[in-house]
Amino acid sequence: MQEQPQQMVARGYDAVAERYAELERDAPWPRLAWLDDLLARLPGGVRVLDLGCGNGLPAGERIVRRHRLTGVDVSPRQVELARANVPAGEFATGDILALDLPRGAFAAVTAFYTFDHLPRERLPEMFGLVHGWLAESGLLLCCVEVEDTPGVVADWLGAPMYFSSYEPGTSRRLLTGAGFDILRDEIVAQLEGGHEVSYLWLLARKR
Ligand SMILES: C[S@@+](CC[C@H](N)C(=O)[O-])C[C@H]1O[C@@H](n2cnc3c(N)ncnc32)[C@H](O)[C@@H]1O
Repeated sequence: MQEQPQQMVARGYDAVAERYAELERDAPWPRLAWLDDLLARLPGGVRVLDLGCGNGLPAGERIVRRHRLTGVDVSPRQVELARANVPAGEFATGDILALDLPRGAFAAVTAFYTFDHLPRERLPEMFGLVHGWLAESGLLLCCVEVEDTPGVVADWLGAPMYFSSYEPGTSRRLLTGAGFDILRDEIVAQLEGGHEVSYLWLLARKR
């Protein structure tokens, strides 16, 4: 039977977790600047859900300084590292498209470099799930790649990895269609092991 994308992603990140952690070496990625913007809009002590939390660094570690963090990742190795790196966070292993989370429980949801590993046809469903998990006027911060990629398997740090994304106009339209108002969006390039990769950053509020 053919491997599902999330199984490939789990196996891939189990294998490359340590290599991925070294990747932000050439120049800082824009992740923390966007996170700081989000966090400045939240009162202290609220619940924040980080989808595809990876090893918890650097975003989870920053979130737990003032908030209650729930992190979810499909890779058991990434979750193991996150528990060690961010002891104050709560972490679970699972597919973010198949979670049983309470509705309206989170003031904010973050997803850094995660949604590009979902089949893009499932992005509307993903945005819909996030909408349901967010409290009234809750915030979503995420980034998605800007290439029109229906779904490919490519080498990622030495392991086969699934990638899929829409061009920016479609990603924006799907987000607003799922019931969000976009507060900020910008395409920002970053260096990943010497290669330039562009992401569409989206900060949005639940309508
Ligand atoms: C590029 S890494 C990003 C990690 C972290 N968010 C960061 O900022 O560095 C993508 C992460 O998303 C996770 N991921 C991808 N698809 C997922 C899914 N369907 N369910 C849960 N986690 C997923 C991967 O296991 C991986 O740890």
